[in-house]
Amino acid sequence: MCGIIGYIGKRKASELLLKALERLEYRGYDSIGIAVVGEGLEILKDRGEVSEVSKTLNFTTLEGNSGIGHTRWATHGAPTQENAHPLTDCNEKIAVVHNGIIENYSELRKELEDNGHKFKSETDTEVIAHLLENKNLPEVLDMLKGSYAIVAIKKDEPDKLLFARNRSPLIIGLGAGENFIASDIPAFLKETNKVVVLENGDYGYVKKESYEINNVEGSADRKVQEINWNSEAAEKEGYEYFALKEIHEIPRTTENTMKALEDLKPYAEEIRKYSRIMFTACGTSYHTALYGKYLFNSIGIRTEAVIGSEFSSVTIGKDDLVIAISQSGETADTLSAVEKAKQRGAKILSISNVLGSSLEREADFSIHTLAGPEIAVIATKTFSAQMLSLYLLYKMIKGEKPETGLEKMQRTVLKLDAEIKKIAEKIQKKENAYFIGRGIGYPLAMEGALKLKEISYMHAEGMPAGELKHGTLSLIEKGTPVIVPLLPEMYDKTISNMEEVKARGGLIIALSWEGDERVGDVASEVLRVPKTGNEEYPLLYILILQLLAYHVTVLRELSPDKPRNLAKCVTVE
Ligand code: M6R
Repeated sequence: MCGIIGYIGKRKASELLLKALERLEYRGYDSIGIAVVGEGLEILKDRGEVSEVSKTLNFTTLEGNSGIGHTRWATHGAPTQENAHPLTDCNEKIAVVHNGIIENYSELRKELEDNGHKFKSETDTEVIAHLLENKNLPEVLDMLKGSYAIVAIKKDEPDKLLFARNRSPLIIGLGAGENFIASDIPAFLKETNKVVVLENGDYGYVKKESYEINNVEGSADRKVQEINWNSEAAEKEGYEYFALKEIHEIPRTTENTMKALEDLKPYAEEIRKYSRIMFTACGTSYHTALYGKYLFNSIGIRTEAVIGSEFSSVTIGKDDLVIAISQSGETADTLSAVEKAKQRGAKILSISNVLGSSLEREADFSIHTLAGPEIAVIATKTFSAQMLSLYLLYKMIKGEKPETGLEKMQRTVLKLDAEIKKIAEKIQKKENAYFIGRGIGYPLAMEGALKLKEISYMHAEGMPAGELKHGTLSLIEKGTPVIVPLLPEMYDKTISNMEEVKARGGLIIALSWEGDERVGDVASEVLRVPKTGNEEYPLLYILILQLLAYHVTVLRELSPDKPRNLAKCVTVE
């Protein structure tokens, strides 16, 4: 969703805020803006990405040691200069940045307009600035319905940044004689790794030497934590795009996860206690859930997977364990599913990549994936880390040792890059692509299609290989790309489905393994990974699918880091 940053200290706020916005852009890039209090309250903002807007607006001309910044993913109001944050009150004395949705903003706006307030934008956020004209922060919060992370600065009180959080993340970063507040840790990680993760209902202020947190019970004490991510993890380190860098980080993530294998044991024990497992997640994380469903069902654990926004119809109770998967831990649809499950007495195990996320706080047990910060909007290394966690749990429950050397095999797969690029060149001008797979190849087909369509804008569909002949086959014509992650399980049947495509002239790109002789008779292109087991192939194939989507996107001269209309973290339902 939107990215928020606030700074207060001795340094030039505009320079630090601008750098932070560059790191936060993955949360939204419809518009950006900065407000700084120096001599007065000054604001620069416009529609567009940081790199574009900073060419026309010279943000660092803003003088002052305290300020706020915002990158927007539009919800209420088009991405225009007027709707860009920060938003101000009637007298331009209060500036506000916000992530989330104020559900009752139209009633509040009407009331404020009736009382003479003049609005300049179509956003829900602007009501907050106007309310702050005559009320203090807790009074304003009492009037707001919805989700929010808010940071505000007042011309007449330049020594503090006001903040409030409800169902949208907000973290304080503690420096020496200076403090930060942001929607995500990478925003200020270069400056400090000491953080205070705020909780729902928290509000207060940050000054340069201190901060105060309150909630309904009065003053709140939140612990200071040290983050062990290094700041380079949030930089491109020589790669052209974060997406490519993050795909290349997959073997390292695997290595780190394997080293921490013992940490997963208690969760494997926990899973055994329940009569049913219900996965819930959205987007890419839902594809991990499908992978988990196949694995767990194969060892006799009754398991289902439900998309977060479809959870209402689910029958769930106290004998069920809900495993909620979310890279960000802030996806509103997944959090809402978790809330429903908890109301019905189910226990929650979360799998998330962001320390102290809302999901982790809601869960009874939490697995933290060790992928480090993921900046590109598309999930790559975190998907791989989620799948690996489920694979390891599955192996533990089954009482088997996991495959060793997975990270080495993944490094070998990365060496297929040039071959993958050649295939990308062949398909980049196509309008449609289909991904088909059976068993645990099906979630992979779904994910391959999602990756391709979300960054290259090529229409892509993923489906069970056996389903193709029930309708979609009519769309296959000469040269239509059909990508097939082949597996030893149901191999013959998948080959038959490939034959059906071949007979219609489809361009079959198969993912297979060294020594699989038969595939070459059917597929036009074969990308081969080291030979391993059925359940392990998805952990290798995923790198190919991600690199394929990446190369098609770059060949189409699009940004794989910032696909249009999308945001890294979707905090609205
Ligand atoms: O943070 P989450 O894993 O909960 O996010 C879920 C989806 O929004 C996310 O996976 C989305 O589909 C990405 N665009 C995938 O690349």
